[in-house]
Amino acid sequence: MKPAIEAAHRVQKNAYAPYSRFPVGAAVVAEDGEVFTGANVENAAYPLSRCAEQIAVGAMVAAGRRRIRAVVVVTPASPPAPPCGACRQVLAEFAPPDTPVICRNPQGEERRYTLGELLPEAFRLKTP
Ligand code: THU
Repeated sequence: MKPAIEAAHRVQKNAYAPYSRFPVGAAVVAEDGEVFTGANVENAAYPLSRCAEQIAVGAMVAAGRRRIRAVVVVTPASPPAPPCGACRQVLAEFAPPDTPVICRNPQGEERRYTLGELLPEAFRLKTP
């Protein structure tokens, strides 16, 4: 898990967050161990801003992977903030409920959850 943690801390520094001043770095570990990263990208038209986790998931999918083994999120918050509700749902598309979600901040504080704890009863499309 160490490479993913280091990658999430590194990528947080690339966040584009001039409006919120809340830089977020995320890393997802794919089924084969490959690490994909993302940082939040804000916009002057605020609702167009994108969360770090969603950018990381996009990079993973664009690289042809479909399954997440672990998630790391780095925020400036103390205690470390867990992913927002929308990101939990996006992660749940590719990660089972027992997936570890490691939340950290630059001071080294850490909180660990599973995705199932953060998003019980995730929405899954089931057609009759
Ligand atoms: N943000 C993320 O990147 N991930 C989250 O899970 C929560 C929020 C971003 C969105 C916005 O750019 C900034 O953090 C403040 O909400």
